[in-house]
Amino acid sequence: MNIAEYLERKRLDVDRFLDLVAPPSVTSPTTLHESMRYSLLAGGKRIRPILTIVAAEAIGAMTPGLMAVACSLELIHTYSLIHDDLPSMDNDDFRRGKPTNHKVYGEAMAILAGDALLTMAFDIISRPDLMKGCDPVRQVRLVQELAYGSGNRGMVGGQVFDIQAENKDIDLDTLQTIHKHKTGMLIRAAVRMGAVAAGATDRQLDDLTGYAEDIGLAFQIADDVLNVTGTREELGKNPNTDAERGKKTYPTFYGVDGARKLADDCVSRAITRLLSFGPPADPLREIARYITARKN
Ligand code: IPE
Ligand code: IPE
Ligand code: MG
Ligand code: MG
Repeated sequence: MNIAEYLERKRLDVDRFLDLVAPPSVTSPTTLHESMRYSLLAGGKRIRPILTIVAAEAIGAMTPGLMAVACSLELIHTYSLIHDDLPSMDNDDFRRGKPTNHKVYGEAMAILAGDALLTMAFDIISRPDLMKGCDPVRQVRLVQELAYGSGNRGMVGGQVFDIQAENKDIDLDTLQTIHKHKTGMLIRAAVRMGAVAAGATDRQLDDLTGYAEDIGLAFQIADDVLNVTGTREELGKNPNTDAERGKKTYPTFYGVDGARKLADDCVSRAITRLLSFGPPADPLREIARYITARKN
């Protein structure tokens, strides 16, 4: 399998769906919709929705509403990036190869665009037209997974741990807790939601959860490494911002090579979690490898 081509095909499917469900910029309030579309359609890797789709395919069943389920995660993720870049948070000027949302639309509109994307995520996994054929009990579980992964005990909680750690001499356990929440929990939700939507057994869901936790940590360690080694052109966002902001990251503790090695260990662990799955889980295995090999 050529993973780059595979991811590109899936990314285009996700982009098409997002373009369809996000209201056009001419819809009132026009500035809000323009601002939402500006960040949403700016060209992210779409790794979370792709994980949802690929996890469902590993289970193998027909999955009604899968695209809406997958894209709900990208809506949450994009909102989290808009808010993460705000002056009161990471104060970043550049994201997905373009000026950050608040640089173009102002802080108030950026906050509101984030709020609206967050809310829209719950709209699309509840809409009867987009979720036609999905078992209602399963659908409620999906909504709960999305809320849990995104909220106070998930991504938002992690963002809190992260800003509270700025300029502090944190230990490795604290760093791991930050990463597991701010990045790991949404990735965990992405994989679990694909599995739940496809009707995974408890055993399958446990294995896939373990896989997701391992790749989630690897993903943020790789983000830390790229913050040190990447260029603005490659990343579509400014490098070296962690050090400038006094953030301790995996490379601070282990050096770049040590951090890379740890991320690779997480990836190997993730792949062993998939032992009971056959060839339909190959894309999950390839995505795990891609997480540490990526350049952006
Ligand atoms: C960046 O996420 C922020 C993190 C949680 C590490 P991605 O690396 O998935 O960013 P996009 O969606 O491709 O822009
Ligand atoms: C972002 O983490 C995590 C989110 C929940 C948005 P970072 O702040 O480390 O990610 P980048 O480097 O800005 O993409
Ligand atoms: Mg941040
Ligand atoms: Mg940031």
